[in-house]
Amino acid sequence: MKPMKILLLACIGSVMLSSSSKSVQFDVDKALDYCNHQVKRTLSAIDGTAMTPRNIPVNSEQWKLVPVSIYDWTVGFWPGILWYDYENTRNEEIGRAAVHYTESLQPLTLLPAYDHDLGFQLFCSYGNAYRLTGNEKYKQIILNAADTLATLFNPKTGTILSWPREVKSRNWPHNTIIDNMMNIEMLYWAAKNGGNKKLYDIATRHAETTMKNHFREDGSSYHVVVYDTIDGRFIKGVTHQGYADNTMWARGQAWAIYGYTMVYRETKDKTFLRFAEKVTDTYLKRLPEDHVPYWDFDAPDIPNEPKDASAAAIVASALLELSQLEDNPQKAAEYKNAAVKMLLTLSSDKYQSRDAKPSFLLHSVGHKPAGSEIDVSIIYADYYYIEALIKYKKRQ
Ligand code: GLY
Repeated sequence: MKPMKILLLACIGSVMLSSSSKSVQFDVDKALDYCNHQVKRTLSAIDGTAMTPRNIPVNSEQWKLVPVSIYDWTVGFWPGILWYDYENTRNEEIGRAAVHYTESLQPLTLLPAYDHDLGFQLFCSYGNAYRLTGNEKYKQIILNAADTLATLFNPKTGTILSWPREVKSRNWPHNTIIDNMMNIEMLYWAAKNGGNKKLYDIATRHAETTMKNHFREDGSSYHVVVYDTIDGRFIKGVTHQGYADNTMWARGQAWAIYGYTMVYRETKDKTFLRFAEKVTDTYLKRLPEDHVPYWDFDAPDIPNEPKDASAAAIVASALLELSQLEDNPQKAAEYKNAAVKMLLTLSSDKYQSRDAKPSFLLHSVGHKPAGSEIDVSIIYADYYYIEALIKYKKRQ
């Protein structure tokens, strides 16, 4: 190649790098102060109820509460929010509440596995509790919970059974949902913190099998994959909370982005990094201008479909980590900028509850096909939003 041509290519390369790495900033302390203000409002409204917040419907100003002792998949998020708020403020009142709401989940730690959500329930709560307090009692609870979750693993299919209750009712002999990628984080954690080393193998086999069966050519995810229990083969990919079997349900794709980022962090296997990029890129390239997706990327009435802020918060948190794990500086900058754009939008008037409600965020969708939790504040959107803010702050 002629020297002039080499110089030209080098210039183009450096312009691309500098334009893509031009970082976008936002006021993270202001956003975290706002979260603390909202947490205090929620605390004073629900203290003493033995209930935990789940959603705030469009026309309501109050959290709809669920009892902490039942099998609701969201019960770990409120204690988790309290721990993140405590991590930022070191406020003793918040710390006491974090302990109280975490320990109120104890009944769940003593039961056999009801479904795969044990990770959401006990790792978002006790995981953060142990990380911030080092209390050995919490560690043991997580180790036990990991063993319990592993009882749902089927070596024949190579994945965890997500919903035992749907085996008979829907004739889904072994079903695995993409959300389950989040819950294997607890298995990795247990394997490296004194638990059974086989938990690492189970988590990695789950991630590999899911990578093989749960995605279409373009990297978009099915919500549910149904497997045969006799020979372990893939039977079909279907939806439960998305628009249709072949569409990209926004939160499902968000779970995949977060899940494969985490699996790469835990295994350091580049196959998972390349796959995390693939599932991320297919999501990013189809996002609307404001970086908050519609609840399903293929919903028929876009742009008049509801947005899902929860997916944006999950992805923002995941991309802050993926950008740090990246071995490609251009991709690292691209992912960090995308995450910050998501946080900027989520921190704008349109998405913040402010004085109107005690949540952090508006405009999430729980289960649209069931007509449930549409355009609401939802506890897990708030959890991943504050998690992303804490991650962003630590990087400054
Ligand atoms: N794990 C349930 C959901 O994402 O709605």
